[in-house]
Formats: sequence, structure tokens, C-alpha cells
Amino acid sequence: MDRLFESINDEVSTPVEGIVIGTVPEWLSGSLIRNGSAMFQIGECKYKHQFDGLAAIQKFDINDGKVTYQRKFVKSESYQKNMSVNKIVVNEFGTPAYFPDPYNTAVSVWPLKDRLFASTETNRIHEIDPENLDTLDRTKIHIIDKKTGEEVNVAYTYQSSSCLVFHHGNAYEEDGFIVMDLCRFPDSKILNTTYLSSYETDKWKETMKNFPRSNLCRFIIPLNLDEKTPKSKNLVTLPNEKATAVLTENNSVLLNPEFMSDIGFELCTINYPKYNGVKYRYMYGCCSEKNCDLCLGTLAKFDVETRTYKTWKEEDRYPTEPIFAPNPDGTDEDDGVILAAIHSLVPGKNPFLLILDGKTFTEKARVEFPDLRFVKDIHGMFRAKPKD
Ligand SMILES: [Fe+2]
Repeated sequence: MDRLFESINDEVSTPVEGIVIGTVPEWLSGSLIRNGSAMFQIGECKYKHQFDGLAAIQKFDINDGKVTYQRKFVKSESYQKNMSVNKIVVNEFGTPAYFPDPYNTAVSVWPLKDRLFASTETNRIHEIDPENLDTLDRTKIHIIDKKTGEEVNVAYTYQSSSCLVFHHGNAYEEDGFIVMDLCRFPDSKILNTTYLSSYETDKWKETMKNFPRSNLCRFIIPLNLDEKTPKSKNLVTLPNEKATAVLTENNSVLLNPEFMSDIGFELCTINYPKYNGVKYRYMYGCCSEKNCDLCLGTLAKFDVETRTYKTWKEEDRYPTEPIFAPNPDGTDEDDGVILAAIHSLVPGKNPFLLILDGKTFTEKARVEFPDLRFVKDIHGMFRAKPKD
């Protein structure tokens, strides 16, 4: 198994202090808290998928220019049951436990108003065209009014070509439209690629080179629709936008996104405390530049206004999702730092917490933790320390 996905079975109960190289900003005070699969082997049993390992919470506490690291497992029901018998006895996303899945046997068909769905007895369903029995491979978008909890424009069906989305960057309303930015995979191949068998040492390089790429896409969804809305015409009138929305004769709104960049982009984050749900400019994420050998091995700051980006990367390192921590006295959207835990891909190079300047995307400091290996986790957040 590649070093990144080797099982981590121990906790770091007592905080360990890292070695600071550079300067940690004085104002930066709080905790970067991250969650992800850590324990991939319990006794003789091994999990099969990247999303399945028992979860560990990692915490980087930052205070007075110093950083400490601590790690503990989430004591979930899965953890308790598995650990009590030292084997895997609970089904996970890609790993069945010791009994066969009794739900994956029957297929049924059921109507919903004039639409038809085929289902197994799992959560998977497909919409079927009741006339020609084609499987409709479209992604439907439902809009819920946050105040009333009711669906908006129920007389219309918003749809786009089929895709898989793990992560939404941001969405906001502007002049009668919803602008929605997300990382879009064209299909579900990623779910197969992330089985742990893809990360065996001899396959690792090939897997990372050919890993499915998602693109940063912008959808623009018109909200003001009525019987006078013209058909077969692009309804998007926001300036400088390339995404389109076309109303068809049967009251479907076909949404065609703009691919904002040709680089692969995933694990997108923003200045969440101040810009969630409102017009914004900067997105952070892990990216894969063209023809790169290490998928998502580069950190990026993406400017959604100019569709340009800045990057950070280093040989034999692998970054995690970057998290923006705002300067409490700052006014600009990107006044703050980016925090990212950086894995070492080779023994002898220490993993570190990277602190990048929010504006220039250049290194302010790194805090190394010798003799440690970080969990290859997925998501995290920054929790600012309240001012005294
Ligand atoms: Fe996610």
C-alpha cells in the first residue's frame, strides 16, 4: 500500500509541538480541525475503499506563533463494534462486512406523477422515459426557498447533463439568477478509482496520473420564469458569463455550465465565514494541472472573476484541502492565510502544516512534525479562538 493510505491505528493523545520555519502570523489563533479515514486494517480485516477507514480527528492548535498536533479516533458505533471483536463487522461505503448485503437483490418500477423510476432496494434509482424506456441520464437541480422550506418554480424542471458532484464551492443570488460554482465530474468513475486496491504501491503512480479529474464549473439558474418567458433562447443576462439556461417547450430549463478552467480542481473552499452564500471572488482547492503526474498534488487559489489562478506545490509532497483563516482585522476577501496539512510521500521528509499568505499565495511559514505521519483525511475547518 502506498504510504499515504497505510493504516494509522494509533492516537496522538498528548499534543506534540512542531518546528516552525518562517513566521506564523501573530493574529493567527485557533484550531484547524480535520476529519478522515485513518484505520484501514482491524485485526486481519482490511477496508476496501478510501472513504471507509475508521475516522480520526486531527487538530492543529495555533497560538502565539506555535503549533501543536493531536489526533484521536471518532468513537462511533462502527469503531466500538469493530474494535470490540478486532475485525470489521459493520458495512461501510465500499466494504461489505461478513454477511451478504440483503438489499441488493430486487428491482422494482414505480411512478411519480407522470414520471417513472426504476429502483433496487438500495438508495440507487434511475428515471426511465415511460415512452421509449430510455434511462434518462440527466442531473436534476431542485431549488428550495431557505425561508419557507418550499421548492421554488415547481412547474419547471431544472436539468443538466449527467454528472457527479462531491463539492460545492459557493452559490449566491444575483439579479434574478442563482450563480452556483462546483467541482464537476462527468461520470462516477472516481468511486471505483478510490478503492484502496488502486493505491497498492506498484499501481500508485499510474493511479495518480490517470485519476479522474473534476472541473470547476459555474451554473447560472434563472429564477424569474412564467408563461411569457421565451423558449429555446439563452435566458442568462448576467454580464461576462458564459453559462447558459434554455427553456424548452415542455418547461424544462436546460442548464449548460461554464467550465471556468481546464485544470482539474477539487476540495474547493472559500473565505467561508464572510462569503458563504454571497457574491465572492476567490476559491481555494487542490488542483491537477495539465499532464501532471500527481493528481490534486498542487494547491491553487482561483479567481472566479478573471478565471485565473495561482499555485503552490513541492516535490514529494501531497497537500490536503486548503482552509482559509481570515485575518480578524482584515477587510479584503483574501486578507488572511491558507492552512493546509502537507503529507510527505517519502520517508525522511517531515510532514508539515503549511501557512500561505492569502493574497500572494506564497509561503509565510511551515511547521514540521518529525517522526509523525498525518492521516490522509478529507475535510476540515478553522475554528478561530474567540477574542478575550
Ligand atoms: Fe466531501
